Amino acid sequence: MRIELQINGEAHEADVWEGESLLFALREQLGFPGSKNACEQGECGSCSVLLDGTLVCSCLVLAAQAEGHEVVTVEGLADDGRLHKVQEAFVAAGAVQCGFCTPGLVVAAADLLKRNVYPSDDDIREALSGNLCRCTGYAKIFDAVRMAAAAL
Ligand code: FES
Ligand code: FES
Repeated sequence: MRIELQINGEAHEADVWEGESLLFALREQLGFPGSKNACEQGECGSCSVLLDGTLVCSCLVLAAQAEGHEVVTVEGLADDGRLHKVQEAFVAAGAVQCGFCTPGLVVAAADLLKRNVYPSDDDIREALSGNLCRCTGYAKIFDAVRMAAAAL
């Protein structure tokens, strides 16, 4: 089936099969490989995107469900070639090791800071609770979110 959707503010279309995930369509058909596939079962958050402004695991959303909707991926957070504050903070804080979890964490953190510019540590913990990182131990990730919040 053919779907049309907005991705990062631009119109896109793709031919997808009925069971195809939005994650697969984004990465393999639509040219947005930023969202990562680490578990493909909604456990890790590495595939997180915004669907009509709501944080979702794109591995759990059918591509067909995105027909006519608006998707924002990690590639869409930069503005006019400038990294998003969260992206800058992840680099500055050294919150990236293998990087597999990073796109999902960045999208989730950006979503948090859009709703809450003064997040407490508990707010950050809750917002990132669906995102698993096997490398960093989370301390630098928290530092990055605090840094991004302070920079807003
Ligand atoms: S790949 Fe989607 S939650 Fe892990
Ligand atoms: S940096 Fe490797 S999983 Fe998070």
